[in-house]
Amino acid sequence: MFATILLLASPLLPQQEQDLGGQVRQLFADKCVHCHHPEAESRKAKREFDQAWDLRAVAKKWGDDLDPESALLIEIAEDRSMPPKDSDYAPITEAEAELLMEWTLARTPMPADGNPFVDLEMAALYLPQEAKGVSAPVEKSLWQRILILLGHFHAPIIHFPVAFLLMAPLLRLGYLRSGKEACLNLERFCFWMGAPSAVVAAGLGWLNASNSGAGGHDLFLHRWIGVGVATTAVLLLLLHARCGHTKWYTLLTLALGLAIAWGAHMGGEMVFGDSYMHL
Ligand code: HEC
Repeated sequence: MFATILLLASPLLPQQEQDLGGQVRQLFADKCVHCHHPEAESRKAKREFDQAWDLRAVAKKWGDDLDPESALLIEIAEDRSMPPKDSDYAPITEAEAELLMEWTLARTPMPADGNPFVDLEMAALYLPQEAKGVSAPVEKSLWQRILILLGHFHAPIIHFPVAFLLMAPLLRLGYLRSGKEACLNLERFCFWMGAPSAVVAAGLGWLNASNSGAGGHDLFLHRWIGVGVATTAVLLLLLHARCGHTKWYTLLTLALGLAIAWGAHMGGEMVFGDSYMHL
């Protein structure tokens, strides 16, 4: 709304000689680039956009020359939603929001001194990589794209086994307390739901890891906890009728709950960064 008024009023306003691009470059240096760059701590911010050190890239990604009013920058300026409320930084001020809108509606002019770089050190570091074609997009076959998309389904599907395989130990505890067979029947139902979906989710997770280039110690643990959980869940499902009342079955069920909670937490940290689940 506010953006519309600004756009309609802009031809009526006295055209001052002001370096909008220069001011926005400073704003990005002060308030944006420390999260939106390739080595930022916030993985979410980095994945969203990691080139805020270059105003040309910002204009391309978050501006919209054809329809500036519907640019993302206008949206976040109107809501003053950046930096995010759940971060350690205060949101941009009213004046900064207005500056961002004005710059976007003016179709993102570059600074008057001709330097589009918000952070020169980062430009020196990352530009040569781009020039070498390191970050140039590569054509992928339909099959490759299908496999990549399938791998991304790890994230939505994993919630099923996590929920069901966390319920199973709770039901087991309920059974231990109350002695009610109904708890065991429900536990079996949870294994029927949880074990097959855990196998599917683990397979998709494996695929996702091989496509995403993820690696390191966290992935190693996350992967093998996942495989271990899926295997154990299948075993417990198959043996439920025969061994459901034994002590080792109870212990395995409780251990399974702990393992899946741990594996899920690691998965969350890999996506959101390990600063996410802190007070
Ligand atoms: C404290 C870290 C942090 C800072 C500082 C920050 N951002 Fe972000 N930004 C994020 C995160 C995290 C996301 C992803 C939000 C999500 O997906 O929930 C994001 C997403 C965005 C998006 C995409 C929003 C969408 O709806 O898709 C825009 C645009 C954006 N930021 C602009 C900015 C601008 C402009 C600044 C500076 C004024 C800024 N950000 C400063 C962390 C930050």
